[in-house]
Amino acid sequence: MKITYYGHSCFGVEINGKHLVFDPFITPNELASGIRLSDVKADYILVSHGHEDHVADLVALAKLTGAKVICSWEIFVWLGKQGISNVHPMNTGGKVKFDFGNVKCVVAQHSSSLPDGTYAGNPMGFVVESSEGSFYYAGDTALTYDMKLIGEYRKINFAFLPIGDNFTMGVDNAIIACDFIKCGDIIGMHYDTFGFIKIDQKEAIEKFEKAGYRLNLLTIGQTIEK
Ligand code: NI
Ligand code: MN
Repeated sequence: MKITYYGHSCFGVEINGKHLVFDPFITPNELASGIRLSDVKADYILVSHGHEDHVADLVALAKLTGAKVICSWEIFVWLGKQGISNVHPMNTGGKVKFDFGNVKCVVAQHSSSLPDGTYAGNPMGFVVESSEGSFYYAGDTALTYDMKLIGEYRKINFAFLPIGDNFTMGVDNAIIACDFIKCGDIIGMHYDTFGFIKIDQKEAIEKFEKAGYRLNLLTIGQTIEK
């Protein structure tokens, strides 16, 4: 798999030749000013919840690429009103087989409304299982015991976890999340984009190391192989 960081919680993952994009928030993010939306490849756009910092470029990217959007029922209905019809609605607990692999929607402990105030359903995380490996994209979430279910029933190769604290779990709780999901190869997200979620990157990496885990903090625009 090839993983490209577009800033905040937005990543591209190339898996079995398909391009997945998670939580498109690029054009309002000053830190991601080097990324052009028109350069972002997407066959699928997975949306964890409705908050602005996860959907700001959703409609634009869906229109640019024609990608299929995977999201909650409520966001599916909202997208319909924006003229986006290539959407697969899901909800927590559901699993669907797509051409790149399976997507299972898992619990995220957070809130979810769209920028115009529309109720967006439950926030979700995603477990993606494929012939190239499996990973967990947590979305915005607190540490929750539900994460134990993710670790108990499958092997996770790596995980995207929020580490910025304030709106989601922070570094210390993300380390406990590694215990729960039985995976210690973590790509950090939801940190440093704005004032409430600034972190000490060096300290965060050291804390993970001390716990026997690895925290990858990607540079915006960087692509890594997993
Ligand atoms: Ni949020
Ligand atoms: Mn957020």
